Amino acid sequence: MPVLYVNDGEHDLEIGSNLPLLWALRDQIGLSSPKYGCGLEQCGACRVLVDGVPVASCRTRCGDVAGRPVATLEALRATAEGHEVIEGLLRANAAQCGYCLPGIAVTLIWLAMRRPVPFDEVVRALDDHLCRCGSHPRILRVARRIFDPDPDAAGDGSRAGHGNGET
Ligand code: FES
Ligand code: FES
Repeated sequence: MPVLYVNDGEHDLEIGSNLPLLWALRDQIGLSSPKYGCGLEQCGACRVLVDGVPVASCRTRCGDVAGRPVATLEALRATAEGHEVIEGLLRANAAQCGYCLPGIAVTLIWLAMRRPVPFDEVVRALDDHLCRCGSHPRILRVARRIFDPDPDAAGDGSRAGHGNGET
């Protein structure tokens, strides 16, 4: 019965230690931002922060995060960086179905908290996220405005990565 610390709340849950964190977050605690995509740590839809580090909650056991701080987009969006990222994504109408965006937002917020970050590193981090709707170009434009507002000075990192290039 691991005790989870999620978004500054303590949750003493009747769950097994092997339960994936994603199911505890969604089904036990009622947080909807982490999504189930692949279940294989390959799409980024389930991303959350544990100890301030991005993890795939679909492949993270509850027993391994007991007593450690877990942050989901529900809390991260209330930070200054969260506000900046969410506003940017909304203003750019970056989503189609939107299923991938909470995980992508977690990554962008995490990176924004570590600025300065080279734009190429941002592009590489976004490579971990699949968007089945093909919204990467718009998402990358938002990322560029946040991390690389003067692209002429820093080179064109948007062409890096698989299929993440701006169009
Ligand atoms: S559902 Fe966790 S990485 Fe895809
Ligand atoms: S907007 Fe639909 S999966 Fe990315």
